[in-house]
Amino acid sequence: MIEPHGSKELKPLYVSDAAQRAALSKEAEGLPSIVISSGAAASAVMLASGYFTPLDGYMNLAESLSVAKDMKLPGGLLWPVPVAQIVPAAQLPAGFKAGSRLALRDPNVPGQPVIAIQEVRAIETLAAADQAAIIEQVFRTSDEAHPGVAAFKAAGDTLLSGPIQVLNYSYFPGDFPDTFRTAVQLREEMSQKGWKKVVAFQTRNPMHLAHEELCRIAQQEVGADGILIHMLLGKLKKGDIPAPVRDAAIRKMVELYFPANTVLVAGYGFDMLYAGPREAVLHAIFRQNTGCTHFIVGRDHAGVGSYYGAFDAQTIFDQIPAGSLKIEIFRGDHTAWSKKLNKVVMFRDVPDHKPEDFINLSGTKVREMLVAGQPLPKEFARPEVAEILMKHYQEEAAAEKK
Ligand code: ADX
Repeated sequence: MIEPHGSKELKPLYVSDAAQRAALSKEAEGLPSIVISSGAAASAVMLASGYFTPLDGYMNLAESLSVAKDMKLPGGLLWPVPVAQIVPAAQLPAGFKAGSRLALRDPNVPGQPVIAIQEVRAIETLAAADQAAIIEQVFRTSDEAHPGVAAFKAAGDTLLSGPIQVLNYSYFPGDFPDTFRTAVQLREEMSQKGWKKVVAFQTRNPMHLAHEELCRIAQQEVGADGILIHMLLGKLKKGDIPAPVRDAAIRKMVELYFPANTVLVAGYGFDMLYAGPREAVLHAIFRQNTGCTHFIVGRDHAGVGSYYGAFDAQTIFDQIPAGSLKIEIFRGDHTAWSKKLNKVVMFRDVPDHKPEDFINLSGTKVREMLVAGQPLPKEFARPEVAEILMKHYQEEAAAEKK
């Protein structure tokens, strides 16, 4: 199997030994504690799961600046976004000093239980100029209407860095028992299936015909044994389809339209950053950590609004030094239904087509149709998938009216 990123083996930071976990939970009761941001808690889950191998905790200021500016850690390892624990200064427990241990509380679980213990090696102030530079480099904008920019700004100005030991996977295994998987589990599952070449598909949305076909085309072109449909299970911006609805829609599509045992549907516990190109590189790294050999990057990958060019998330891989990633990128062109050929095609495969030869529906249009109870065209979505989405939108519209 393909090696993890920057390491011969996965480094999951979840404390898997039950006795050690119990001892750490006991220790946490006597430690100063802090409620961390949803993003930092999600990073803890990714670190716990092995997805963020080889990191051992939250980055310090020099590491965060280096990653934002040059897409690499000071030691040279490719990493595209800071994995930082940033809090408002006022939230630091009184008298807390670097060199001490801190219990990190999970904001996303009732009662805010301890998710991890951090050995805080440094407490640094994130100066306004550094914050602005990181935001501009990672998100390519400083617009606060960008959800990733807004979340980063809201986190605060005090950076707590140092290694962590993680005690649980937050709400993910409870809310998504059939779907949440760690990188360790995925490597095991794929090796049990005997899959050698696996193409991974990232998604935060339900899958329509174009997405389904994109997976199929990628699988055929690279000659993959299987496809990993790997969905984000964490926080999204308002308006995105909630994970349980998306999960149900994707599972229905796989059950009805893919041969048995060729697709693995799973999810990971991370909040969406909407960082477009930089997030695509992060996505590639953590799919390498699951053992996948190929990763699909299509049109406007991890984008939001019109902050990124449609293929910026592909061209960013041209800037990465050769050999720093082992996973290969499958670059998907715009994919849609061709009225001329009566099937879904990739634009690059049909150079004779004009824009009006394709059926394209905007997200807004899809939502309007489903709220109004209108079925989606069969050229756009599978009817069984559309039905699940229609139910969701109608329930949401009814709840909004109340
Ligand atoms: S993402 O934020 O998780 O990237 P989404 O779930 O919409 O968003 O997309 C999943 C993957 O499908 C991404 O690689 C994206 O680039 C690709 N994709 C989505 N729609 C199309 C399309 N019409 N043509 C080509 N690629 C697409």
